[in-house]
Amino acid sequence: MSDGDDLLRRTAELAVQYLRSLPERPVRGGYDDVGALRAALLTDLPESGEDPGAVIELLAEVGGRAAVAMAGPRYFGFVIGGSLPAALAADWLTSAWDQNAVLYAAGPAAAVAEEAVGRWLLELFGLPPGSGYGLVTGCQMAHFTCLAAARGAVLQRAGWDATAQGLFGAPEIAVVAGAEAHSTLFTALQYLGLGRDRVLTAGTDAQGRLRLDELERVLGGIEDGTPLIVNLQAGNVNTGSFDPLRPAIDLVRRRENSWVHVDGAFGLWAQASTRLRHLTDGVERADSWATDGHKWLNVPYDSGLAFVADAAAHARAMAPPHAAYLQYAPGQGQAPERDPISWVPEASRRARGFTLYAALRTLGRAGVSGLVERCCSLAGRMAERLVANGAEVLNDVVLNQVLVRFHPAGGGDPDEFTREVVRRVQADGTLWLSGTSWQGRSAMRISVSNWSTTAADADRSAEAILRCAGR
Ligand SMILES: Cc1ncc(COP(=O)(O)O)c(C=O)c1O
Repeated sequence: MSDGDDLLRRTAELAVQYLRSLPERPVRGGYDDVGALRAALLTDLPESGEDPGAVIELLAEVGGRAAVAMAGPRYFGFVIGGSLPAALAADWLTSAWDQNAVLYAAGPAAAVAEEAVGRWLLELFGLPPGSGYGLVTGCQMAHFTCLAAARGAVLQRAGWDATAQGLFGAPEIAVVAGAEAHSTLFTALQYLGLGRDRVLTAGTDAQGRLRLDELERVLGGIEDGTPLIVNLQAGNVNTGSFDPLRPAIDLVRRRENSWVHVDGAFGLWAQASTRLRHLTDGVERADSWATDGHKWLNVPYDSGLAFVADAAAHARAMAPPHAAYLQYAPGQGQAPERDPISWVPEASRRARGFTLYAALRTLGRAGVSGLVERCCSLAGRMAERLVANGAEVLNDVVLNQVLVRFHPAGGGDPDEFTREVVRRVQADGTLWLSGTSWQGRSAMRISVSNWSTTAADADRSAEAILRCAGR
């Protein structure tokens, strides 16, 4: 047995020890102070290499102690899922195989696993078969991929080739989004030269849903025939609410040269559940969809997913120019193999398909639906318990997100008190969540997104929150 074998076995043991500790370790992580963490990790680069076993033990000790238990059952921060055991195991194999998912020739199984995952997900989400798909780092890069396809397609219809000519001299594109669109959408627009401050904003309602009268107003101000990209949202990051997708898409479709993009980072997963599918009604009629596997499917980071109904527009925006040394068939459909490079902004990259493959194959349709529904019902359970004990819930809990606000018992400022309760909960360590501001009011955010969260975890967490609120 080589030293390398021993190192890997020991590392697997350390990883398993960490995973076993998840249910009971302080969720906030073990270092309160960046100074201590820097003292432990920020050394000078050694002149000669150190023993691999010692370096791994150090990382396991420091990194493991510092790790925020976001893979565990009582992490409710942002929108962050854990890792299903099969997905994590597939991630280990992904590293061991070290395949470059750039070309079929560089990683044949990586390329075909992506094909399987792409097909399964199109089916699960009820999106048009034959759509293009690409596996990227996260939802932000999925937006980038989809909106690059959108930009190219609406300009092509206006007689302009953005892939070849860029944007200098191109017709203007009108970009519309709801007032509650996620910040990453604007980052993608920023990267694409579409500008994040020139977006035309349609107002939203108390749940953060795009208002149809507002969409109509904004569209009314845009000359017909203008290349147009409208961004809709399935799952608001704070409330979990959904834009009225079907009627909004109907309105946009009256325009001559339009593209509808949907941010479905976690909300698109509602399509997997017959009980929740009414929320995403009409979503399949959009042109592109951005989502990811690292939130609700519970695969390890990173795992973004871009889907584009017009596969040719997708490949036109992403496929690279010819390079003689690459064994690559530009122009999809001309070769029997599918080269991942044609569908994403990256060339060399991790073979992300394997974790998704393992997650989807081990869960099946019923498992994905069950995971999504379970998270939603646990969110509802926590909301009920908090309300029953005097907290205020600001949103309709339609999905897995809950916004909670606390009023101090003896009177006082609920904004400051809510922020204080969030700080106390974070320090307490039973669970972790973050705060936000919702339509001018401070709120605590609860996002239930982990496969391993149980009813007992939800109850224990609600109790800890109430204790921190002095109830
Ligand atoms: C609605 C929505 N869109 C986009 C994103 C960005 O996702 P990522 O961090 O994977 O890029 C998030 C993240 O929480 C989100 O909630």
